[in-house]
Amino acid sequence: MSDPVAEDRHASPRLLLVNGPNLNLLGTRQPEIYGRTTLADIERDALAFCVVCSPPVDLVCCQSNSEGELLDIIQREAPSVGAIVINPGALTHYSIALRDCLAAVDRPVVEVHLSNIHARESFRHTSVVAPVAVGQIAGLGPAGYAYALRFVVATYFPDVTLPA
Ligand code: DQA
Repeated sequence: MSDPVAEDRHASPRLLLVNGPNLNLLGTRQPEIYGRTTLADIERDALAFCVVCSPPVDLVCCQSNSEGELLDIIQREAPSVGAIVINPGALTHYSIALRDCLAAVDRPVVEVHLSNIHARESFRHTSVVAPVAVGQIAGLGPAGYAYALRFVVATYFPDVTLPA
């Protein structure tokens, strides 16, 4: 029997970039930890990358401070995307609802953190999302998003050519 999920992945060069609570404050939020790059900068760079892929990749960006709203967005958008790049913010460390949602939608997930969560407070060392993610990038600042996007396009969109 054919696998509709796998077929969708190949048919639809579309990505979902999700940012969780407080990431709307990037730029001014604890810059000594998170830097000065804003979320708008990150989303602009992500879009710039996606449009120069060939064929271009559609990018859906979202951010919410509300756990429920994030679940609603992921449930709504996941059927039409081939992969999800997510910085879940603090939800990383405790949201079983977010983890269950990501597992339920059955799309490849790459988890990104600007800071190195493993080198910070012990409560940040655990990610409840990591077991349902393909992998995690932490501590590389905004470059982590860029690497995650390149990885998911290269891996899950075999018909898309990456920019140099
Ligand atoms: C973060 C790390 C989390 O521990 C924190 O709650 C955040 C941001 C990061 O990008 O480094 O909100 O996900």
